[in-house]
Amino acid sequence: MKRTVLLNPGPVNVSEKVARAQLRGDLCHREEEFALLAQAIRRKLAGVFGVGNEFTPVLISGSGTAALEMAVCSFVSPERKLLVISNGVYGERIARIAEVHGIPRTVMETPWGTPPDLAAVEQALAADPSIEAMALVHHETTTGLLNPLAEASALARRAGKKVLVDAISSLAGDTFDFDTVDLAVGTANKCVQGLPGVSFALVRKDDLPRLEAIPARSLYFNLAAHHRAQESGQTLFTPAVQAHYAFDAALDELAEETVARRIERTRAAALRLRNGFAEMGLSALLPEEWQSNVLTALKLPDGLAYPKLHDRLKAAGFVIYAGQGNLKSHAFRIANIGDIQPAEFDTFLQALGETLAEHSSRSGGRP
Ligand SMILES: Cc1ncc(COP(=O)(O)O)c(C=O)c1O
Repeated sequence: MKRTVLLNPGPVNVSEKVARAQLRGDLCHREEEFALLAQAIRRKLAGVFGVGNEFTPVLISGSGTAALEMAVCSFVSPERKLLVISNGVYGERIARIAEVHGIPRTVMETPWGTPPDLAAVEQALAADPSIEAMALVHHETTTGLLNPLAEASALARRAGKKVLVDAISSLAGDTFDFDTVDLAVGTANKCVQGLPGVSFALVRKDDLPRLEAIPARSLYFNLAAHHRAQESGQTLFTPAVQAHYAFDAALDELAEETVARRIERTRAAALRLRNGFAEMGLSALLPEEWQSNVLTALKLPDGLAYPKLHDRLKAAGFVIYAGQGNLKSHAFRIANIGDIQPAEFDTFLQALGETLAEHSSRSGGRP
């Protein structure tokens, strides 16, 4: 099959070793072999990020949102509140999960692509003692904005609040300081370079007694129950066994490359692409200093319809990503994560340049 280079923010291109790992063989999840696999994954996961002493991983089968829902619905004590910082689709998703589970919440919103108003966050934290925890998205994939995690977390910590972070699209792609969080949510199939089907929370061990005391709001997504089962070598429900095989292989590759070098590779790929975008006259949606390593949101050139751009590039072997919501009509996104070679980014830039030049000549010289 012809290779398609995925420039969407996950699922990503994976190495042949990771793809082949799915074929390790049929396995019953109640057998010792699965317990050993799950234990190895949990050990490797905490190990690659160097947080094995303070954090314990909880795996869940499902996409990133499964782990996010498990985390959010298990994190807030009865009668307490969650303060949600929101400036994109995924911040809104945290607030929506809280709503679905009947968790009282205050949502601090700024427009998509705009960093949070930290003074307002500080005020909100001080004004409401019922707030138990703050939640935010590290890398808001809607726009490519890297939220100011250190600053926001410092405010929450000073006010005595717990911190939950959606790091689904940034873990192993952008620098992530675990000291700033009590719970981080991630997934196998983005910068970790595994396959879709398994996601996880990394939970601060000393917060477990608090989480254990929160009555379950969901049968399937109760974090404390999953953790208890996994600690005793069990799994609550039928896991996506083959996705676990691939995750295990991906973690071996990440350990070999190291998280620091993976982040550096992601950064180098973003810079390579951004130089190319600038040369062809494309404008980024965000100022450089707010951008993540993982994804660039770009303004669509005047008169160029996204489906046309997408289809031309897909025919050339590259999948790009549309803008979400209101951004759909005037922006598109290019992620640079996964097992992609520098030469492939160059070939992509060439294909993009040709498509834009063709559009520009048709539209009378406008870029
Ligand atoms: C920051 C962030 N949070 C949550 C999600 C949802 O993940 P999934 O689509 O795997 O459920 C995504 C997906 O791109 C994301 O980027």
